[in-house]
Amino acid sequence: MADHVLLVGMMGSGKTTTGRLLARRLRRVFHDSDEQILLRTGLTVPAIFAEHGEAAFRAEERAVLASALSCGVPGVIAVAGGAVLDPDSRRRIRRAGVVIWLRAAPHVLADRLGAGRGRPLLEHDPAATLRLLEARRRSVYRSLADVTLDVDWVTPQVAAERAERVARGWLATAGGLNALSAAGAQGAWR
Ligand code: S3P
Repeated sequence: MADHVLLVGMMGSGKTTTGRLLARRLRRVFHDSDEQILLRTGLTVPAIFAEHGEAAFRAEERAVLASALSCGVPGVIAVAGGAVLDPDSRRRIRRAGVVIWLRAAPHVLADRLGAGRGRPLLEHDPAATLRLLEARRRSVYRSLADVTLDVDWVTPQVAAERAERVARGWLATAGGLNALSAAGAQGAWR
């Protein structure tokens, strides 16, 4: 199994900010889905949705995730919120390393994301959409997660510190139970 550290969770859970901090702490390369898509296509997420539609965006999302996962150097990967809906991507994620779910309640996500700028799915009624998407995706995140970190009232800095303890514990024990106690994480091993 590869030794990537993968962050999953909803939009607004802090995957990008936490992931970047975590990568710095672990001295690893950081892969962020939306950023990689921009580099690959020259287009922002809203532009791809508007010009080519959601299906084209999901194909790009799959491609950048596959490329990050196949990177020979173990990294920190922020998996885009919807990328976990693809069964092939889920299979790849499960084999790739330790998966940390940054879990936050929909009303917290809605507060953080406001009008949802830059996120085409949130164009109409962001709070209601986030509630709906979270309800649909929660079980998928849970099924993928080795560890869950509740991040409702936690800054990205603190989330990154906790994730670092999870990751170091995981790497030291190749997926042992120590990581959970080391992190003081609220959650359970899958
Ligand atoms: C999406 C999440 C976004 C972005 C796009 C769709 C989703 O990424 O890929 O707006 O379906 O949840 P983040 O999870 O990084 O915000």
